Amino acid sequence: MNVSIIGTGYVGLTTGACLAFLGHKVTCIDADERKVKALQAGKIPFYEPHLPELVAGARHNLSFTIEYAEAIPQSQVIFIAVGTPPGANGAPDLKYLEAAARGIGENLAGDFVVVVNKSTVPIGSGNWVESIVRDAYEKRTNQKAKGMFAVASNPEFLREGSAIFDSLYPDRVVVGSDNQRTAEVLYSLYRPLLEQTFNPPSYLPRPDRMGAVPLISADLASAELIKYAANAFLALKISYINEIGQLAEKVGADITQVAKGIGLDARIGTRFLQAGIGWGGSCFGKDTAALVATASEYGLDAQIVKAARDMNRRQRERVVEKLLDELKILKGRTIGLLGLAFKPDTDDLREAPALDVARKLIERGARVKAHDPVAMSRFLQEYPDLDVTLCATAEEALQDCDAAVLVTEWQQYRELDWESIKSSMRGHVLLDGRNLLDRARLSKAGFRYLSLAG
Ligand code: UGA
Repeated sequence: MNVSIIGTGYVGLTTGACLAFLGHKVTCIDADERKVKALQAGKIPFYEPHLPELVAGARHNLSFTIEYAEAIPQSQVIFIAVGTPPGANGAPDLKYLEAAARGIGENLAGDFVVVVNKSTVPIGSGNWVESIVRDAYEKRTNQKAKGMFAVASNPEFLREGSAIFDSLYPDRVVVGSDNQRTAEVLYSLYRPLLEQTFNPPSYLPRPDRMGAVPLISADLASAELIKYAANAFLALKISYINEIGQLAEKVGADITQVAKGIGLDARIGTRFLQAGIGWGGSCFGKDTAALVATASEYGLDAQIVKAARDMNRRQRERVVEKLLDELKILKGRTIGLLGLAFKPDTDDLREAPALDVARKLIERGARVKAHDPVAMSRFLQEYPDLDVTLCATAEEALQDCDAAVLVTEWQQYRELDWESIKSSMRGHVLLDGRNLLDRARLSKAGFRYLSLAG
């Protein structure tokens, strides 16, 4: 099929590359000319494992442009995957979505086109997008758009850092539409994925026991709500284990064992029960805020989601409180942070806990040094004013520090020579914000090992 994707962020580019890999002819459209030029030259604008190989391997089916006119008229399916950054009052800013919908309407041709919302959009956006596409089309052609296109919602569930795996081997695909023909077009598009009939790439073999992928065919509003409800549930699962972690600390329990003990109950599940500094990233914060805002528009108070947000904010404050408890004075101290990205295997810094922790420490007069395996160049570009000394290695970041904080659970931090790091530090406090390290080993090496949970 001929497919256009508007927006080449994590979702757009991954979707485009995967659909091209599955054999569709894909054109990615982005308003940022520099980004498009880089993509045309084979450069991926962010760090995502296996995306470069996937794009290179599907190159014959994949092109990039800034011009809607080059792609939209011949497309059978058009994905909108533009950013919906947080706006005022928790509601997302929809200006990119609006521009994309208008661009589609101004260039629409062909028989029957499915316009798919893949961006995370407020409930009801499907109808809104439909009206913008229709108005733009009718204004340009002076003809009725009736029957020419339909809007569907196809929320994305990929995680940064494992975006390709999640896209090729999803737990489910959700399609929301109020029109049977639309659902059929999307079924054909996703057929190789749903039936898992494609040849897996050598670098990402199909998981054992992977069967057919369930397709949830829903109405538009349900599909839109599924996305928010899924992200909010994952966020509150993390906040819940962090709340239990605080109690575990008080009663002398080990939160890792507790998480395993409850997670092995199949009704609960072990995933997203990793206690620690809490969630960051561009999605959970924005989507939980949007869910609260939407609920309140309808006179509802989304108390559970609000509590999850509060708990998450508290975890970041607790890092500084714990350091204060140990060091008594933060002014003039040097604190080394391991990890800047909001999670491992990405260079994304949006809503990263490390930024908050660094700001709070600096406010209290501490000096902050940091290391991250991939996010440091992006940090320099995006946060030039945040006074953090970046270091080429983790060892260098911790040298002469009064305390170390492990903020992002990059696996390589587990393998550090902690004994020699200890002797290079001024102090001996180590706050493991992700429960990544071996408490016994670190204590034996002479550290005062702290975590945010018991
Ligand atoms: C999240 C969802 O997991 C995806 O399904 C969704 O598609 C995506 O948002 C989105 O809406 O675009 P993402 O933010 O990329 O994906 O990353 P996650 O793996 O969900 O991690 C989010 C945050 O939670 C990270 O800061 C991570 O460190 C933290 N986390 C995760 C924990 O603190 N504990 C856990 O057990 C799991």
